[in-house]
Amino acid sequence: MTTVLVLNGPNLGRLGSREPEKYGSTTYDELVASVARWGGSVGLEVNVRQSDSEADLVHWIHEAVDAGWHVVLNPAAFTHYSYALRDACALVPDAGLTLVEVHLTNPSAREEFRHTSVISGVASGTIAGFGVDSYRLALEAIAARVG
Ligand code: DQA
Repeated sequence: MTTVLVLNGPNLGRLGSREPEKYGSTTYDELVASVARWGGSVGLEVNVRQSDSEADLVHWIHEAVDAGWHVVLNPAAFTHYSYALRDACALVPDAGLTLVEVHLTNPSAREEFRHTSVISGVASGTIAGFGVDSYRLALEAIAARVG
């Protein structure tokens, strides 16, 4: 079975109570349950993790590359400045795997500092602005790709 590692960066564990007017009222635990359900419905096994630490995310990307897992990544604030995470992400397409960058909001429609993504240039594609549905669309894109 095709496995997808769904990674969430800093502060996303606070979903539900964090700026709900921007990020919605779905809690992190509810997001995890939905992602597992959506993955199952398109024939993917999903493993969902969250960390506030850049090192954890880098190590988890390495784990995905070594295991042959596709990746859905919401890099959160690291999107805008983490070259370490970008360099790790570059390993994913090099390994013939798909990396989908996701965002709940549309960073391009927000503050100027959010307009830059250092991840997009190495991602297979980016889905942003659809709330938690961004994750569902990312999983559907991977399922369509692996056929
Ligand atoms: C985010 C957008 C980022 O700019 C922000 O730092 C986040 C969440 C999103 O999902 O919309 O933490 O990645």
